[in-house]
Amino acid sequence: LDNGLARTPQLGWNDWNSFGCNVNDALIRQTADVMVSSGMAAAGYQYVNIDDCWSTRSRNGNGDLVPDPQKFPNGIAALADYVHGKGLKLGIYSSAGLTTCADYPASLNNEQRDANLWASWGIDYLKYDNCGDTQGRTGQQRYTAMRDALARTGRPILFAICNWGNDGVGTWGPATGNSWRTTGDIAGNWGSVMGILDAQPGWAASARPGAWNDPDMLEVGNGLTDTESRAHFSLWSLLNAPLIAGNDLRSMSATTRSILTNTEVIAVNQDWGGRQGNKISDNGDQEVWLKPMANGSAAVVLLNRGGGTATVSTTASALGLGSASSYSVRDLWAHTTGSSGPTISASVPSHGAAMYIVSGGGTPPPGGGTSVLRGVGSN
Ligand code: DGJ
Repeated sequence: LDNGLARTPQLGWNDWNSFGCNVNDALIRQTADVMVSSGMAAAGYQYVNIDDCWSTRSRNGNGDLVPDPQKFPNGIAALADYVHGKGLKLGIYSSAGLTTCADYPASLNNEQRDANLWASWGIDYLKYDNCGDTQGRTGQQRYTAMRDALARTGRPILFAICNWGNDGVGTWGPATGNSWRTTGDIAGNWGSVMGILDAQPGWAASARPGAWNDPDMLEVGNGLTDTESRAHFSLWSLLNAPLIAGNDLRSMSATTRSILTNTEVIAVNQDWGGRQGNKISDNGDQEVWLKPMANGSAAVVLLNRGGGTATVSTTASALGLGSASSYSVRDLWAHTTGSSGPTISASVPSHGAAMYIVSGGGTPPPGGGTSVLRGVGSN
């Protein structure tokens, strides 16, 4: 959506994956605090997002949504002020039906009323779900109505469509929202993360600046091992996915924090080389995912889904690089730069991934690193 927002994929946090309906003012304030103190804000995270269950069970006499006074005793406008005071932005949630998935009032037929209310509170982001009675309207009609209502408020509000890949959203989503979910809900286990990954090929052509495929929020540090969390974060970054953390930031381990703040991996997510990452090979348990980078280098994830350590390999030519006797290989998790011949490989633990930027063969090096080896015959 050309509303000036999400020109690169949005980064933030959302309460749903860890807290479900147990959202409240203190949780959001504490999360905003930690987003800054943990270094996440400096790494690019900006949005603190409230999901379902924030309102009372019915609209007030004027027809407006009302924040649950137990959960948000100060109201949402005061909370937005607090979050803005931290240099961050606040997101809210509704659904393109008569009710939300947890049966709270939602925004179908009240699009402008609700958009105006959120804008008056200082809301910066709307996640718009797909539950409740849709009164026979198509997804495109329902999401377009909210897109237009948000635009009429005059406030920049990122519009995150959550219709689980339905109704041909890959076709109309790019003109309607800043991102759209491609699948049902993720859960904090490896099988779920891999199941969602398997549904991503086929969506890449829809992505562009301002309009991103959303394979759902992160489960880094939320039920996955550290190895699995690194693989998940590598893959979501390569897919140009919105990076919306779903763990409890207040109690995360130092390792979880270091995964979420790996700025070399985030830089791949934020780079637009003309298309998002995609799978280029698969031999059952081992997969190779490639994202062409804007400077001509190749970001690659070597994934091992098997039960034991395995060598995962690809070639410079499969990565789209020209011919050279050696290539520079930047390891985005070890933060080291080495060189390789035309076969690029890594020993990868079970449920793990290596993530590299490979350059050479006539392509410029990534980031002008000091120990980058240039291929013979490269420029
Ligand atoms: C379904 C969405 O896909 C989830 O991410 C979450 O927003 C829940 N609804 C909330 O009810």
